[in-house]
Amino acid sequence: MVTIAVDGPSGSGKSSVSKAVAARLGLAYLDTGAMYRAATLWCVRTGVPLEDAAAVAAAVRSMPLVMGVDPAAPGVTLDGEDVAAAIRTTDVTAAVSQVATNLEVRDELRRRQREIIAGEGDSGFSGGRGIVAEGRDITTVVAPDADARVLLTASEEARLRRRSLEVHGTADATSVEATRDQVLRRDRDDSTVSTFHVAADGVVTVDSSELDLEQTVAAVLTVVER
Ligand code: CDP
Repeated sequence: MVTIAVDGPSGSGKSSVSKAVAARLGLAYLDTGAMYRAATLWCVRTGVPLEDAAAVAAAVRSMPLVMGVDPAAPGVTLDGEDVAAAIRTTDVTAAVSQVATNLEVRDELRRRQREIIAGEGDSGFSGGRGIVAEGRDITTVVAPDADARVLLTASEEARLRRRSLEVHGTADATSVEATRDQVLRRDRDDSTVSTFHVAADGVVTVDSSELDLEQTVAAVLTVVER
């Protein structure tokens, strides 16, 4: 059973690339960012104030979350409801770092992530050939013993352009500017608890600034085959 760990900042392309790598190799796929997003949505929906760290941690520990691990359709089910779209709203995106920097929340979600990666969670994944897990602390904390560990980076310009395309459907100057504050602030906040701009020992950096999706997938596959 193989584990591939991919980390990277916002707009580095890690989700698209990780899904494609998993599909190519016949592996499962785990989007850990979606778990922090679901935790944020859960707190908002259950009326837990995000500034109450203890209440947030307690809510997340009892969160009924099931992560789908099919790279072609990785569902996110919260309390029986498909929330794949609801966790990507601008409100959740703006609030997620506050929840993700809560250390008790991280302990709980990292525990669930390790369980899923080991094929022991309730995601329906029972090991199989293995899994590609992506996030910001997978290569360093969640799966430091992974068979392949990749840090996907890209220039700030490339990251803002990609994120703008995703959110606004265009990368003209106004849309890129509108994206800038949000992306850079989130990066800064997330950096207080995770190191995902510099590769840790043994982690291979793939810079996708000048690469398209297919070329980036090929570069990651080269690392995996080493
Ligand atoms: O939108 P983007 O792809 O940049 O982020 P994401 O992968 O959906 O992750 C959303 C948020 O979850 C991040 O901004 C972090 O606050 C948090 N996160 C984390 O703290 N650790 C991870 N392993 C993955 C995500």
